Amino acid sequence: MIICANFKANKTRQETQAYMAVVESFVSANDISDTVIVFPPFTALEHDPRNVLIGVQNAYPVRNGAYTGEIALEQLEEFGIKTILIGHSERRHVIGETQELISEKFRFFAEQGFAIVYCVGEPLEIREEGSSALMEYIERQCEGIDLSYPDLIVAYEPVWAIGTGLTPSLRDIELIHGALRAKTSAPLLYGGSVKVENAHDIMKLDNVDGVLVGSAALSANDFCDMIAQATELNTEKGE
Ligand code: 13P
Repeated sequence: MIICANFKANKTRQETQAYMAVVESFVSANDISDTVIVFPPFTALEHDPRNVLIGVQNAYPVRNGAYTGEIALEQLEEFGIKTILIGHSERRHVIGETQELISEKFRFFAEQGFAIVYCVGEPLEIREEGSSALMEYIERQCEGIDLSYPDLIVAYEPVWAIGTGLTPSLRDIELIHGALRAKTSAPLLYGGSVKVENAHDIMKLDNVDGVLVGSAALSANDFCDMIAQATELNTEKGE
């Protein structure tokens, strides 16, 4: 299982350090072998996490250069970062990243050998059009993306489920993950209002290999609880 915490623009450097101390101790005390990834803000990146991967929520697809306000490869290398989130719904719909820029980021960081958590997911109006519109929308979000990239993780995050407390039904998650599985052998995460109360049921579904958690992962104790739930499921799911 793969359990990820996306902090978005939350937590200071000091708060992140306190958080990491809790999560790292939990992972070692419980001999967790699942992959745990934390995506803090840039200002809280750290060298050498003990047993948890640190990734970035975004970066610009160049080594360095005249890109005011951006962080590029050279700055990530200084922190030993090799994991990146690309295509997150907030970057697509709030910041306005196009599929062209997103696929350029994908190509660049794939060439650099990064582990890429690639996010897809539909807005509410598309979901309301039915399942073929939904899959076509996701298909377009995969344009220019190499779904056979060996270090790929795909996260399905419906836009309307992010930060709203709403989630698709378990059956819908399973159907969409089944359709994604037909397109890629990459691990598939679900994201969108995952919390302690629903993580187990979601992670238990076929073709769900983990979760990408926003608000509920801001509590280190809740995040550890979800890591424990994933670990318990390994035996049940035969992983
Ligand atoms: P929430 O868990 O707050 O819904 O956010 C999900 C998300 O966007 C993770 O990347």
